[in-house]
Amino acid sequence: MAAAPPALRRLLLLFSLLLLASVAAAAEGEEEEEEFTEELLLRPLPDRKALAHFHFRSSAPPSAAAGRHHHVFPKAIAQLVQQFHISELELSFTQGRWNYEQWGGYDPMSTNYAKPPGVELWAAFDLPLDEIDATWKNLTHTLSGLFCASINFLESSTAFSAPRWGFKLNEGNLRYGALPREAVCTENLTPWLKLLPCRDKAGIASLLYRPSIYKGYYHSQKLKLTSSQSFGIIIDQTLTVVLQPDAFRGQQLHSTDGQLQPSWSMKDLFNRKLSGKCRVSKSSRVFLEIEKDIVDKSGTEASWTNELFVLSTAPDRVLKELNNMDAQSSSLYEYDVSNYNNDKPLDVGITWKLPLIWSCTPAPYHANRFLMGSGNERGSIALSFRSTNLHKQLFGSSNDCSIKAVVFQVVPWYVKVYYHSLQIFIDGNSKAISEVVDKIHVTPSEDKHLPGTLEMLLRLPCSMESATLSLDFDKGFLHIDEYPPDANQGFDIPSALVTFPEFNSNRSYPETDTLFVSPLLQTFKENGVVKSYTEVLLVPLTTPDFSMPYNVITFTCTVLALYFGSLLNALRRRIGEEERELKKAAVKRGLIPLLIAKLRGKKVDPPPQGSSPTSLLSTKLLLKVVFVAVVAVSFHYLSNS
Ligand SMILES: *[C@@H]1O[C@H](CO)[C@@H](O)[C@H](O)[C@H]1NC(C)=O
Ligand SMILES: *[C@@H]1O[C@H](CO)[C@@H](O)[C@H](O)[C@H]1NC(C)=O
Repeated sequence: MAAAPPALRRLLLLFSLLLLASVAAAAEGEEEEEEFTEELLLRPLPDRKALAHFHFRSSAPPSAAAGRHHHVFPKAIAQLVQQFHISELELSFTQGRWNYEQWGGYDPMSTNYAKPPGVELWAAFDLPLDEIDATWKNLTHTLSGLFCASINFLESSTAFSAPRWGFKLNEGNLRYGALPREAVCTENLTPWLKLLPCRDKAGIASLLYRPSIYKGYYHSQKLKLTSSQSFGIIIDQTLTVVLQPDAFRGQQLHSTDGQLQPSWSMKDLFNRKLSGKCRVSKSSRVFLEIEKDIVDKSGTEASWTNELFVLSTAPDRVLKELNNMDAQSSSLYEYDVSNYNNDKPLDVGITWKLPLIWSCTPAPYHANRFLMGSGNERGSIALSFRSTNLHKQLFGSSNDCSIKAVVFQVVPWYVKVYYHSLQIFIDGNSKAISEVVDKIHVTPSEDKHLPGTLEMLLRLPCSMESATLSLDFDKGFLHIDEYPPDANQGFDIPSALVTFPEFNSNRSYPETDTLFVSPLLQTFKENGVVKSYTEVLLVPLTTPDFSMPYNVITFTCTVLALYFGSLLNALRRRIGEEERELKKAAVKRGLIPLLIAKLRGKKVDPPPQGSSPTSLLSTKLLLKVVFVAVVAVSFHYLSNS
């Protein structure tokens, strides 16, 4: 090939140029491709439990064409976005309550993935304001069909609200609804898994062994959707579970100074090991997170085997949180699932060597909500804040500062809250509203039409230990059709949301791969204003005695049956003949043989002629029938009036 003819050389050059161009075009095309990534984060919790967070992201590039063909992106979601002009949507199904005191309240996990029990749905639309309510109604129906849940109950105007700034800043295009009593089970998980390209057949989702994940203390399944003209549609599907690792494995080293934390691995938590990734996923990774407090205690550089614990497998990378505030920070051990397969499955686990007590960083205040008062007429809702003294750790010990807290609460119309009755107590002393409340926005409830919404910005002094807010309410009456099937259980008031706008729980980890950013770490890095949800409240309301109509119906039916039965009997009977037969038979053989003969259906001999008191008997019988009829009709009339 030393001296190729110039023509051939030119041809070769042309070919190579063409090849280059096509490769470049392909690369460009790839940028426009739909993508899917799967990730799992595991974290030991201080109360001997373990947190598992599954994160799946699918994205589709923007497309003008309505009938686009989708490869990995779920078509149902693309159609949903297109039909309802959704710019953002978040739907969560949760069972159990996030334990803010033990599992932390100041990290990306608790701010983004700790959700109120039941179903919570909010959506922001890219539509004129007057079309939003109608679209929301249609959206709830569609989602209800898509996820096999009673989301359609959010359709009624009594069930959703339009918060302006208390929940999330918006221009009136956001709607929020919650169903605290919705039960969550596998029938909600199956449609959620159907949106994944590999379902639960391969990759990280194959760890979702139902008996294990539904055994947990907390279970929250979430779908977050963002759409825009510039980047297309992104859906983040997450499942956050808190599990109890199986009883103690391994020997106890220090029986005298406390118990070791339970050692666990994926096999213990999910009863499965990970044998490879989902083929279509762009990246598939498992992270094990070690909290800052443990890193503090281990003292040494984060290594996967140290004097406190040892990991079951050597990680592919170790990521240390980038944190300018203090030197110690949490670390992530990263595993790339594509390096593992059926013959060499991945089983990430942790074995503790020393007994260890640590704590997660709490939110600035623990927020709790409870009911006061008794009886079926009125009561009060109280919201209490207990300081965790976080500001001292973060900003030093200055006490003449204040901390902002935003309260957002939706109350159904039948709990008629009197917003003027707001009372505030700080460390037990009553305070003027103007001293504490910076901004307040109330949408009063309207009977059978609108729920009440409260958005309130509080400024709480740093030196405060505890604060309590109370609001009085009257209990309303519902129409009999409006009661749920089990009315005596009581009525749920959805969780209130408390936001601390000055505290941001974002965490950033160094980027090693500049081409590919992990979606999980990206959500950690995004703006994460610290949030806590309070408990759901159960309000007993006056309920009618639902068994009464039932009693009346059964009673009336019995009387009517008696009446018609005897009437028919009287009409069908041939009185004279029967009398004759009876008399004759009685004379001849006695009554019992006659009855037996009648039952057998034998014909009885005609009786001899003779005068008898038949006419007297028949009038008596008629009188009886008329009496029963009168009783029945009058009873029926009385019971209906
Ligand atoms: C909602 O659905 C109804 C019935 O399917 C339809 O007539 C209506 O146009 C829809 N409204 C919106 C805003 O999509
Ligand atoms: C992350 O949090 C810090 C304070 O903790 C804040 O200054 C910064 O703006 C936050 N970053 C983002 C992207 O919100």
